[in-house]
Amino acid sequence: MTDLWLPPEIEKKTADLSYTENSIGMSGALVRIYEDMVLKVQSSAPWTKREVTILKWLCGKIPVPEVIACGEQDGKTYLLMTRVKGKMACDEFFLQRPELLTARLAEAMRMLWDVDISDCPISRDQETELAEARLRVEWGLVDLDNVEPTTFGPGGFKDPEALLHWLERNRPSYEPVLSHGDFCLPNVFFTETGISGFIDLGDAGVGDRWRDIALCHRSLRHNMSGKYASKEREIDADRLFDALGVKPDAEKLRWYLLLDELF
Ligand SMILES: Nc1ncnc2c1ncn2[C@@H]1O[C@H](COP(=O)(O)OP(=O)(O)O)[C@@H](O)[C@H]1O
Ligand SMILES: [Mg+2]
Repeated sequence: MTDLWLPPEIEKKTADLSYTENSIGMSGALVRIYEDMVLKVQSSAPWTKREVTILKWLCGKIPVPEVIACGEQDGKTYLLMTRVKGKMACDEFFLQRPELLTARLAEAMRMLWDVDISDCPISRDQETELAEARLRVEWGLVDLDNVEPTTFGPGGFKDPEALLHWLERNRPSYEPVLSHGDFCLPNVFFTETGISGFIDLGDAGVGDRWRDIALCHRSLRHNMSGKYASKEREIDADRLFDALGVKPDAEKLRWYLLLDELF
């Protein structure tokens, strides 16, 4: 299984080490899990560069993987980083303990909100995201096979262009924090005692706090509904709002979930 070309520095550090290949992510990235390291290989894109930038900026501020080596060659980005300990938030252990799970997720989100963003190198504010969404719509890059069934069609938006217009005309107020950008359960790791790491940070940066609340709430719903596992569970995703101490803002939740449909 060594037919993959790797930059020499990464090849040197991983040669002869055994690994498993991870298939949980949905981005098409190739992810190799070594005992203490993880290798992520992706087609180069703006977010693959941003991931390295933000990982370096976040190092020492909150628990994130340390960048061991990175490189780019022939349209691919290679990132070798430390392996985060613990289990993903979507692990059976946490899904069976909904109170612990929602308390941890809320604690993790507050950890992000407490980061001083004054010198954060990346912005994911509404304008930035809408501009990228516009490019995606114009280039026909919106993945219509991976949207909620009610977003487009009867009772929903005619097409991605119509959704984009609606988003542009209905921007909610903006509450900037450090936003993860893909705050779903497989991207946050816990041990039995606390938060051990945030991963998959290609969309992280200064952004609205409801961006993460919306995606986390949806991920909780999906993980409980049986969308990703064989069984349905009795867990009320709205517990997240109680754990965060915020009142659900239906308008902002809707806006950020609809924006995400274009990515
Ligand atoms: N540094 C890491 N430490 C531990 N596990 C990781 C690490 N990076 C990735 N993984 C595992 O690989 C999966 C996919 O990686 P991720 O960066 O989330 O890629 P994707 O963009 O495809 O979701 C994660 O959900 C996690 O299980
Ligand atoms: Mg991921």
